[in-house]
Amino acid sequence: MKLTTAGESHGKALIAVIEGLPAHLRLNIEKINAALARRQSGYGRGGRQKIEKDQVEILTGVRNGETLGSPVTLCIYNRDFENWKSSMSAEACEQAKMQEKSLTKVRPGHADLTGMLKFEQEDARNILERASARETAIRVAAGEIYRQYLSALGVEIEGYVKEVCGIKDEGRYAFETLARAKTTELGMLNAELESQAKEKIAALRAQGDTAGGVVEIRVKGLKCGFGSMMTYAEKLDAQLAQGLMSIQAIKGVEIGDGFGVASKSGKDVHDEIFYEDGKGFYRKTNRAGGIEGGMSNGEELVLRIAMKPIPTLMKGLQTVEFGSKEVAVAASERSDVCAIFALETIAEGVVAEVLANAVEKRLGGDTMAQICTRYDALP
Ligand SMILES: Cc1cc2nc3c(=O)[nH]c(=O)nc-3n(C[C@H](O)[C@H](O)[C@H](O)COP(=O)(O)O)c2cc1C
Repeated sequence: MKLTTAGESHGKALIAVIEGLPAHLRLNIEKINAALARRQSGYGRGGRQKIEKDQVEILTGVRNGETLGSPVTLCIYNRDFENWKSSMSAEACEQAKMQEKSLTKVRPGHADLTGMLKFEQEDARNILERASARETAIRVAAGEIYRQYLSALGVEIEGYVKEVCGIKDEGRYAFETLARAKTTELGMLNAELESQAKEKIAALRAQGDTAGGVVEIRVKGLKCGFGSMMTYAEKLDAQLAQGLMSIQAIKGVEIGDGFGVASKSGKDVHDEIFYEDGKGFYRKTNRAGGIEGGMSNGEELVLRIAMKPIPTLMKGLQTVEFGSKEVAVAASERSDVCAIFALETIAEGVVAEVLANAVEKRLGGDTMAQICTRYDALP
């Protein structure tokens, strides 16, 4: 189920095309828009979110609320385009406006400089417009469709914010309690830690600085055997890491105990296996995070991702002006201070995309009914 996204941050629209979705997937468009709204919220966001009120428009592949089996095209119009028309249109732009919107004081930690060198551009606008995490809006819309596909099989995805700039939640939470994170301002489940994290973000904002954090994503209901150890490309852990690392600003992915396994011995890392009539094989622990040998083992998937602090600082870092090569203060466009709440929704969508593809690879199927029957028949 190939997903392609297109669109610039201040261009006319963001587009996604999903090929290979089965027929008769009933879509809940309100839920797609609710996910888009979540991506735009959260404590620490910048001014852009006040301009955009993202709503998905489905252009192809769906009739009367159900997929047809043809490519599904999603579109989100950028409201801000009205303010950028004269410098971002596909047609000839006004030189003075392009100059006004140009960015040459390249930002450390952003794609600006490396992209300019690679694509032979003298204006980082031609790089950052695509590098920008505005792209995640359309990825969330597509991700929500994959989520609804998985939900029809009984596979559910939830997540929460585990850390914001050093303020860590070491708690362990049952899957059923995770959805509450979507109703808080920062996506944390511990109210005291969330208020500390908000204070930290406010202090960083006042200093012109930014924050990152850690999100945990969990998946319940995924049966044993998705992914494969037969080829490296089919390994589910590798696919999840690839998908999650492709989100802007993600610098680390952990599965199960992740980096923690390196300092422990085998008896404290591996999950012992048990068997009971009626229950089948099971484990009492889930340190592996639900994946062994590149395959889902039937336990809950447990994934964590680390987001670096936002690279655009209002108190710009030292850099070099691209044209003159003189020392400069990095550009500070309107920007988020912390986008960890949004990341949780984005990551859920990316995990859904990877898992839906693993299901499709194993079970095939032209219609949702066929896929559900095949999934239900699995042990
Ligand atoms: C939800 C979200 C919002 C983001 N908002 C901003 C932002 O407002 N300003 C910014 O400079 N970077 C922002 N970023 C991060 C940049 O897009 C990212 O750091 C940049 O594209 C470089 O890619 P890299 O960090 O993966 O190397 C955001 C990332 C995400 C996931």
